[in-house]
Amino acid sequence: MTAFNDVTDLTLDGNVAVITLDSPPVNALSAIVRDGMYAAFGAAIADTSVAAIVLICAGRTFIAGADITEFGGASTGASLFDVQTIIEDSPKPVIAAIHGTALGGGLEVALCAHYRIAVPSAKCGLPEVNLGLLPGAGGTQRLPRITGPRKALELMTAGTHVAAAECLAMGLIDALANETALRADAVQYARKVVADAAPLHRVSDRAVEPMTSDDFTAFRQANAKKFRGFKAPEAIIQCVEAAVNLPFDEGIKVERTKFFEVVTSPESAAQRYVFFAERQVWKIPSVPATTPTRPIDSVGIIGSGTMGGGIAMTIANAGIAVTLIDTNQEALDRGLKTIRTNYERSMKNGRFTAEQVEERVGRIAGSLSMEDLSDVDLVIEAVYERMSIKKEIFTALDTICKPSAILATNTSGLNIDEIAAVTARPESVIGLHFFSPANVMRLVEVVRADHTADDVINTSMQLTKRIGKIAALVGVCPGFVGNRMLGQRAREAQALIEGGAMPWEVDQALYEFGFAMGPFQMIDLAGLDIGWVKDRSNGATIRDRLCELDRRGQKTSAGYYDYDAQRNASPSPVTEAIVREFASRSGIEPRSFTHEEIIERLVLPMINEGAKILAEGKAIRASDIDIIWINGYNWPAYRGGPMHYADTLGLANVLSRLRELEAEFGEQWKPAALLEQLVADGKSFADHRA
Ligand code: 3HC
Repeated sequence: MTAFNDVTDLTLDGNVAVITLDSPPVNALSAIVRDGMYAAFGAAIADTSVAAIVLICAGRTFIAGADITEFGGASTGASLFDVQTIIEDSPKPVIAAIHGTALGGGLEVALCAHYRIAVPSAKCGLPEVNLGLLPGAGGTQRLPRITGPRKALELMTAGTHVAAAECLAMGLIDALANETALRADAVQYARKVVADAAPLHRVSDRAVEPMTSDDFTAFRQANAKKFRGFKAPEAIIQCVEAAVNLPFDEGIKVERTKFFEVVTSPESAAQRYVFFAERQVWKIPSVPATTPTRPIDSVGIIGSGTMGGGIAMTIANAGIAVTLIDTNQEALDRGLKTIRTNYERSMKNGRFTAEQVEERVGRIAGSLSMEDLSDVDLVIEAVYERMSIKKEIFTALDTICKPSAILATNTSGLNIDEIAAVTARPESVIGLHFFSPANVMRLVEVVRADHTADDVINTSMQLTKRIGKIAALVGVCPGFVGNRMLGQRAREAQALIEGGAMPWEVDQALYEFGFAMGPFQMIDLAGLDIGWVKDRSNGATIRDRLCELDRRGQKTSAGYYDYDAQRNASPSPVTEAIVREFASRSGIEPRSFTHEEIIERLVLPMINEGAKILAEGKAIRASDIDIIWINGYNWPAYRGGPMHYADTLGLANVLSRLRELEAEFGEQWKPAALLEQLVADGKSFADHRA
């Protein structure tokens, strides 16, 4: 065996050289890996006893891509292009042997090999789009030469990981290996290539199927909504156009230019930040991953409404048995029926087979008796937000449930310490705050109360991962993290319209910022009358006035907006007149508001509140807050979350604008002490550690 450096070695298996990379955790193409590969391929090609070369990886996966941590720094060592060229130009056949995932630059390296063999569990893909990037090592030019440009476009703009069997069908790999004998099968494959004197296939030499400019236009149009605001998808489309219309070498030049554009864009910087934030969020300094967990094989859910039903589906999807409790048969039947209807809709969309629907529905048993929860491992209470009811339920659960059971509440902001205090086991009480619709939204705020035990926290985090969600650990405070910050935004949205801005101006500014909808569209959807009491309404707010006119949102075809029979919204002259009246009462001249002004008024208070949350230790790190906003409130990923956005604005700028707004509008704009401190120390939110 020859070792070229700490991560690359070469062994001879007869006349086949096996180059092994071993650079945990995912064999990313860091400088040392590129250097090692370049040297090892050079040696194998020079060695006259070698007839063929196998490239394989140790550990859990084949190369999972370029090393993302290296982006933005100075490039050292052999370039990826040098490594790819030595492989593709090799006079001896090169076979890439794939297990785990061949992703991004990893697949792009494999596409320079003359043959590819993979185990059945392997997956291949070019997921750079998720990092705001495009495949920048020839992927945009080589993939269309294998799959055709249309399929390549679909795969690269979605970042799909393709299973080995499908890779084989589309020609991305040439053979399947035995799951447990990749190395031996790859060597045998190499021997056969040599024995057959099989050609040295170069993907770059292949022709590309045609695709017309109309087809590209249609693809852009069909995906316009999905791609809105992201830079990388359009750059990928332009690279595939180049692949179709230009020779390979020219196409590569286009890819280089476009890659440089995206890799240096703030959108990609934000998406790469999110990639690492999504991995950080699971790490809890005071609760290491080695903390014990309690087994969760059965879950009880109290409340079969929209929230309880959505949670039940999520849990059942992960193969866990659910007992769904409600107080009356009618409500329970309605809840179970909605669950079935939702599953059947997913079946019609091709997400589940009929069999899978039955399996899932079969895992959810309805009951009218909490006594049926005596043996479950976890209970999630999802009834409406009234403290007295929650206390009653937890008092009962404490006597009914087995001692090891975890008792969770789905409250979106009530004091969990108060709920835990009615039980004799506050250490087993935790918040699991799902977002509606719970079977769709990815976020769960895991809320640690004063006495919650570490094993309960770890179990909850692990369960969230198991059911395919992302968890952020937060502390008890009104609204926890997400709703607490949302409250600040909502307050300012109201202040804006009371100051003469039209609701549709506010909504449009947020839409263009990247949200799916603005606060007034959201209120119209949910209903203006949530929390509104008719008898006490005295026209004090714009909302009161609208409700008094029975403009209670989409359900009455009128709210902040007017709605036609198809629920298309249009600005309402009635609302406009009320807004103008409020403004003139306060002596405010009518004027239009710029989008920048609106965004600043809505987002700066969120950032300020985020700083307070961090200082109070209610979130572990700024990036956890960003994860909450991206996954629970549709904050656009290409802006990296409110705290990252603040860092990109510069905290000194944020602070000085807050001071100005405080001078103009008063106390509620007072900058958070932590923000003042970070600016004084020349630090960012990303630098802050609680
Ligand atoms: N570069 C640097 N670090 C990486 C990395 C990469 N490409 N991929 C993963 N890591 C790190 C993670 O940050 C994590 O670090 P941590 O343990 O310190 O938190 C560790 O590797 C393990 O990652 P996961 O927790 O994600 O492990 P999983 O087993 O759940 O998933 C994976 C493995 C599917 C490979 C997943 O990590 C992944 O999707 N990685 C990114 C793949 C990717 O996007 N590749 C394209 C990169 S860009 C590129 O190649 C540009 C090229 O076209 C020029």
